[in-house]
Amino acid sequence: MIDLTDPEIYVHGIPHEQFAEMRRNAPVCWIPQARGSAGFDDEGYWAVTRHADVMAVSRDSETFSSWENTAIVRFQADMPRDRIDMQRYVLLNMDPPQHTQQRAIVSRGFTPRAINGLRAALATRAERIVQDAGRGDTGDFVTEIACELPLQAIAELLGVPQEDRKNVFEWSNSMIGYDDPEYGGAADPLEPAMELLGYAMTMAQDRQACPRDDIVSTLVQAEIGGEHLSPDEFGFFVLILAVAGNETTRNAISHGMLALLERPDQWAAFKQSRPRTAVDEIVRWGTPVNVFQRTATRDTSLGGQQIRQGDRVALFYGSANFDEDVFDHPDRFDITRSPNPHLGFGGSGAHFCLGANLARLEIDLIFNAIADQMPEISLAGPPERLRSGWLNSIKHLPVHYR
Ligand code: HEM
Repeated sequence: MIDLTDPEIYVHGIPHEQFAEMRRNAPVCWIPQARGSAGFDDEGYWAVTRHADVMAVSRDSETFSSWENTAIVRFQADMPRDRIDMQRYVLLNMDPPQHTQQRAIVSRGFTPRAINGLRAALATRAERIVQDAGRGDTGDFVTEIACELPLQAIAELLGVPQEDRKNVFEWSNSMIGYDDPEYGGAADPLEPAMELLGYAMTMAQDRQACPRDDIVSTLVQAEIGGEHLSPDEFGFFVLILAVAGNETTRNAISHGMLALLERPDQWAAFKQSRPRTAVDEIVRWGTPVNVFQRTATRDTSLGGQQIRQGDRVALFYGSANFDEDVFDHPDRFDITRSPNPHLGFGGSGAHFCLGANLARLEIDLIFNAIADQMPEISLAGPPERLRSGWLNSIKHLPVHYR
């Protein structure tokens, strides 16, 4: 059986035929791995490929823990136990009640009001990013356009000063590009992570001493009932935002552009009517996060299989988003698709993407800016993909801007 977390099988993108066959014949399937090969004593994992089963696991965080194992498949390779424990400070890897408490605090930065408050600033940013890129005839869409807005959005949200943004971006990049040296991946992804963590903790200490009118100050200032984030908790929160908010949204934008430019009718339709449904279809189609995992806390059954306590369960969003039981013609990219109950932001459980509305806003703003300012954009070559079984990521996308 093929290891579905192996980067090799993703070199041309999500292996849709393989997943379709699994959804048909083995929707919850045990994938053996060499014992200890992923840094744990596990002998393998359950691959969950159907939409309904991914939803069921996501909704039941009592039976399927995020804490018992780390959520980030790629990080597990060769990582000593103490480093894995570090990841447990990250929201994504917590279980209730700790998760519920932390999420309630950080959610204050992501209220619809807070996100809407960023709209004007981000719209201006999006327009400027597109304008700057459009000065050249050709370029790399990923580095010149798709990368910029997600970083700026998080930096804006957190109040990171302009002069520090480049560093934050580089730390984030090298944490993620770990398997792919060409991508600037650090030999040890913990190094840039520690840099970013240190930076964020300093920022938090600074705001604790001298509060300002920004989300960092809100999160680290003591409140009634003592509900706040300590500087180190804040540091880990920034760490996850840099990974969860930056790389994912960038890839949604790159996949969206590729899909639109490969289908001139869809690009023409977008430019003409700007349907709001386009954003979610872009996230479904691109599925920037291919897989997350949970660990069973008790014996249970799923999709007709007996799952034992302690078994790892991998949720393949890249498969669930193309499940023909849920989506008509899932292999058709359709910017008017509605309803679109995709799982690109995770299932609707406790860990549902905190930044989903921010990501939607960014995608909406950037494609509108592109449609306004560079309607003639076209592909200048094939995409180059990141070597990863976890992220569905495009490293470079050559385009003609006019
Ligand atoms: C969680 C995808 C953008 C912050 C998640 C999860 C997925 C995801 C699949 C896990 C859900 C689960 O385990 O059930 C995406 C995609 C994005 C995106 C595809 C862009 C298109 C963002 C942005 C931010 C963000 C912009 C913040 C700036 C988070 C956080 C979590 C999360 C903090 C953890 C939530 C928790 O554990 O409670 N995201 N995300 N994401 N995302 Fe996103």
